[in-house]
Amino acid sequence: MATNITFHPGSVDAAERAQLLGQKGITIWFTGLSASGKSTIACALEQHLLHLHKFSYRLDGDNIRFGLNKDLGFDEASRNENIRRIGEVSKLFADASCIVLTAFISPYRADRAVARQLHEKAGLSFIEVFVDAPLRVVEQRDPKGLYKKARAGEIKDFTGISAPYEAPETPEIHIKTDESDVKESVRIITEYLSKQGFI
Ligand code: PPS
Repeated sequence: MATNITFHPGSVDAAERAQLLGQKGITIWFTGLSASGKSTIACALEQHLLHLHKFSYRLDGDNIRFGLNKDLGFDEASRNENIRRIGEVSKLFADASCIVLTAFISPYRADRAVARQLHEKAGLSFIEVFVDAPLRVVEQRDPKGLYKKARAGEIKDFTGISAPYEAPETPEIHIKTDESDVKESVRIITEYLSKQGFI
């Protein structure tokens, strides 16, 4: 635990930065089972936003675990820490006026609530997008062969099989990826961002 530290505020706060840069920061938090479509939608949305000349950046579970979070596994405590760190990082990006797209399973409601509170306490916007697909469907997709391995007992603590997934109760956006394709999903989210004045 760090002691004897003092927070040093900048001369420009998030609101003024947003005004100067012409863009408000927001974290769009995608949550859902492995293979539900989080990364695919986040990638397409990032591309769409960048083509609109909006500063957008994606933080993706698999990718972040190659670097910043390479020390973490998939037990409950590691997932808590994974999401705690991403909550902090996404808050920094949102504070910098970025449209942050986080694509993490983030299976625990309490962890997602902490990430939301962190943003809201700092006056930053946070929306939760539930990327919803039934276990039957994601298991059929199984693009990385992980469900097969988990069923065979070769991967422990696998979300949906041997580790829990707590679905959001009141997400701002609920996308059913067995009903909407990627284009439609991007449309739903951009319509929301436009209505809220983010783009
Ligand atoms: S979490 O739960 O938010 O901490 O997970 P996350 O950081 O998003 O990482 C999920 C990706 O890790 C791969 N993987 C596993 N997922 C779930 N359970 C276990 N045990 C596991 N082991 C490896 C998997 O590729 C996940 O990627 P996605 O994109 O979700 O399929």
